[in-house]
Amino acid sequence: MSDVVDVLKKSPVIPVLAFKSEQEAVEVCRVLFDEGLSVLEITLRHDSALSAINAVKADLPADACVGAGTVITADLAEAAIEAGAEFGVSPGLTPALADAVKKLNWPFLPGVASLSEAMQAREWGFRALKFFPANISGGTGFLKAVGSVLPDLMFCPTGGITVDTAPDYRALPNVATVGGSWITPRGKDGTIDLGLVRELARTAVETV
Ligand code: 3PG
Repeated sequence: MSDVVDVLKKSPVIPVLAFKSEQEAVEVCRVLFDEGLSVLEITLRHDSALSAINAVKADLPADACVGAGTVITADLAEAAIEAGAEFGVSPGLTPALADAVKKLNWPFLPGVASLSEAMQAREWGFRALKFFPANISGGTGFLKAVGSVLPDLMFCPTGGITVDTAPDYRALPNVATVGGSWITPRGKDGTIDLGLVRELARTAVETV
């Protein structure tokens, strides 16, 4: 399995993204990349997600790292790789998914929310895990406790993280980066304001 920790360490924050169209994806990702966020997770939550990954990869420079989020089945993992996703993220982990991503040798960040889940993922060979949903599953206290019993695991906490709480997570030795959607909020009209994204991305890079 390729090492997803190398991917995580490239960016202090990984924006978790959900796009309604390829055009929206390209416009937003261009801003994020320009502001220094070079690792981008495009979730497979809209029909256009796979083509968005493809379009963003084609548009951004080669040092951008574009991955797929919400990869909950082996079929989605294969489709995401086909679309060009350089890494995958999942909110959880099943035996079938673990088996598939290992066979595909794809950098993969499976989600866990408890010690038993972390131990199971570790047994399957994963050393970097998404801690999700971080804010309601124990937050930084959970990660400190895990660090003392499973010190060889690294985490990317995600879920309810904001620019105000991200630094506390990032200060922990077992946190490689944090993920979140706060940088790309949708307005009441359902659109993403690119000026606001620029501002939030800049603040995230400076603060986190
Ligand atoms: C995810 O898929 O990782 C979460 O939806 C991101 O969590 P957030 O929207 O609370 O930042």
